[in-house]
Amino acid sequence: MKEIFVSDIDGMAAGKDVVVKGWAQEIRVMKNIGFIIIRDSTGLVQATVKRDCPDFQLLEKISRESVVSVSGTIPESIKSNVGREIITSQITVLNLSETPLLIGITDNVETDMDTRFNSRFIDLRKPEIARIFRAKSAILWGMRNYLMSNKFMEVQTPKTVSAATEGGAELFHVKYFEKDIFLNQSPQLYKEMLVASGVERVFEVGPAFRAEEHNTPRHLNEFTSIDIEMAFADHNDAMLMLENAIANGIRNFMDTVKDAKSFSLVKSIPETPFPRITYSECLQILKKNDYPAINGDDLNNEALKIIGKRFEGFYFITEWPKSVRPFYTATLDEKPEYTKSYDLQFREIEITSGAQRVHNPVELKKRIEEKGLNSENFEFYLKTFRYGMPPHAGWGLGLERLVQVVLGLPNIREASLFPRDRTRVFP
Ligand code: 4AD
Ligand code: MG
Repeated sequence: MKEIFVSDIDGMAAGKDVVVKGWAQEIRVMKNIGFIIIRDSTGLVQATVKRDCPDFQLLEKISRESVVSVSGTIPESIKSNVGREIITSQITVLNLSETPLLIGITDNVETDMDTRFNSRFIDLRKPEIARIFRAKSAILWGMRNYLMSNKFMEVQTPKTVSAATEGGAELFHVKYFEKDIFLNQSPQLYKEMLVASGVERVFEVGPAFRAEEHNTPRHLNEFTSIDIEMAFADHNDAMLMLENAIANGIRNFMDTVKDAKSFSLVKSIPETPFPRITYSECLQILKKNDYPAINGDDLNNEALKIIGKRFEGFYFITEWPKSVRPFYTATLDEKPEYTKSYDLQFREIEITSGAQRVHNPVELKKRIEEKGLNSENFEFYLKTFRYGMPPHAGWGLGLERLVQVVLGLPNIREASLFPRDRTRVFP
């Protein structure tokens, strides 16, 4: 007998014998007939159990969400509202589930987020939750594929580090034997050092840690960062790589995830190139809207809402002032107070930050010191710039943010399997 996924039943001929394994979502027993609705990751099937089945008595014992293996035959005509049916010849209970369940799976009651995350493994059995992670996986796969086909090498860099890259305030301190070290906020310095190691193009998909003090719908304390760095490239080259990687990620999601368009906010593969607007143009728009924004300041949420209204979906804000960008950001030759930097936005939400980097070691040291940092702590990084460092550019993208905007999720936590926030480091 063939062991199958539930959805493999579609298109199978009547009379075929099959074995399905999964979770008993619903059990109903009547006098002469009973039903188990079995769920696996691909869908539902009704196992119809007639009184003459030797395991009929088992129906009384099986609790909801128990794991079962059911053998049976595909009938001539299907009499089930789940659209799939087998006539059961044998039932094996592989593991009974305790009762009552920690949270409901099929009932229509709203369970609050905290309760759901406390029992996330059950929450993830709900198809409308599970599909978020199918989407995440498919988007990432499409982006990875795009980068791999553009000669990028995937790398892994340390997450325990002794120097901060994105500013000191959001660092998690860790006791590391006798030393006080940090959890890495970004692989920034490492990916640049790898460019100096003679690999022109690297990317990393890994965790990044930020000690964000406040609970917001778009911040996690541990998120997945997709980072790239490319040699002999400027900010424009890196932006091109970004928009195409995202388009390919969304294409793969739409091609491979069932009913993708029915549950995603983004309904088609975004057209490239994405629109671009400079920071200075943003200030002009804000001024026209009587919104007080000052040159040299970061754009806050309210300001970005005004700007975001002008675009359908993804758009770039380019040429940010030097004062709001990290020390490694290259400045524009003709306007040295502005940088070769960009953020990719979706409405008011920032998805990516990137830039061409400073590659001159003397300038880089000066920029580190201008930010009030001790350049001696960056010697391991600075020295890689003195022995043949190509000009380079790159970006860092928050994968959960991307999933959040593509699917239109109200809270970024929904895009993390086991979210970490100010109050949650469990489970
Ligand atoms: O804008 P950030 O801080 O930029 C960097 O880390 C640079 N090293 C990138 C570069 O190559 N220049 O972070 C990059 C992205 C953000 O745009 C956002 O999508 C995501 O990481 N991100 C977060 N996502 C969830 N929760 C948080 N607390 C995040 N902080 C940043
Ligand atoms: Mg940023």
